[in-house]
Amino acid sequence: MRTLVTGCAGFIGYHLCARLLDDGHEVVGVDDLSTGQRLNVDDLGTRRGFTFLQHDIVEPLCVAGRFDVVYNLACPASPVDFGRRPLQILAVCSRGVWNVLDLCRRSGARLLHTSTSEVYGDPQEHPQRESYWGHVNPIGPRSCYDEGKRFAEALITSYARQHGVAVRVARIFNTYGPRMRADDGRALPTFITQALTHQPLTVHGTGQQTRSFCYVTDLVDGLLRLADSDVSEPVNLGNPDEVPILQIAQEIVRLAGSRSQIVHVPRPQDDPELRRPDIDRARRCLGWEPRTDRTEGLARTIEWFRRSSRPAG
Ligand SMILES: NC(=O)c1ccc[n+]([C@@H]2O[C@H](COP(=O)([O-])OP(=O)(O)OC[C@H]3O[C@@H](n4cnc5c(N)ncnc54)[C@H](O)[C@@H]3O)[C@@H](O)[C@H]2O)c1
Repeated sequence: MRTLVTGCAGFIGYHLCARLLDDGHEVVGVDDLSTGQRLNVDDLGTRRGFTFLQHDIVEPLCVAGRFDVVYNLACPASPVDFGRRPLQILAVCSRGVWNVLDLCRRSGARLLHTSTSEVYGDPQEHPQRESYWGHVNPIGPRSCYDEGKRFAEALITSYARQHGVAVRVARIFNTYGPRMRADDGRALPTFITQALTHQPLTVHGTGQQTRSFCYVTDLVDGLLRLADSDVSEPVNLGNPDEVPILQIAQEIVRLAGSRSQIVHVPRPQDDPELRRPDIDRARRCLGWEPRTDRTEGLARTIEWFRRSSRPAG
């Protein structure tokens, strides 16, 4: 199989490419390295079957030959990026996705697009089913990402209807694991970095707001199953194991063997109160559900951060 992955230098992109290479695919990875890590491309580059193309998908994407599947992951995705590069996010969710769709049409590929639970906004329905249309502030500080991803879903659906390209849409919920960026502003890498350096863990508000965290290799397995399926409607991929953010912070302190205290800082605007996927569709149509226990996943992630922060030599 010949596969193209945009966003290959990112957190999920790295793990997806590694798994595709393990499964014997030929993989062309595309990334502009705006939020991704060079280290991920270098590590993938040591593997047989991997080719890297540095390219911004907001510009037309011309790659020769046919592809069986294109996985579109390219998009700045962390809260710090929402403030730093809102227009880039809107461009990649609109012109970028359009260019990827054009490539799929030309090369006869099926598209798997990575959407997000943020399309549900600060949800008024809990847990979130795919049928829920969401509760999103269109002009808030997160709107570039939330509305960008909603526009991308509308674009993909319309393009598929008009041009007959086969599309799959994964609505990914919070995912974690090795190779997250320490400074990307997401809760888990922030807590782990703070715990490993014995700094206070900065919990937003009371910490009673909930999240559901899925270990990255489980998520990648769901992406592969969805790409192989005939499900053209969006599918939630995430872990229904819902936990208050304060509890996650306490678990990380314990697992890291840290002396850190927990401090409370103001909540960001439009921060969702509750997050839990309803994964009935994924269970039914893909036979998928997460397998990695949270303690085990957190321990592996903490270990990776510990090793990667050690000076070389
Ligand atoms: N990590 C999560 O918890 C999560 C949750 C929901 C959805 N997602 C989605 O999954 C995808 C991957 O997320 P991630 O966590 O790996 O993020 P990431 O920031 O680690 O990876 C995104 C990658 O896309 C690249 N990129 C950004 N703009 C680009 C452009 N214009 N052209 C080419 N490459 C570009 C970046 O350099 C980076 O390598 C994103 O689309 C994100 O919205 C992630």
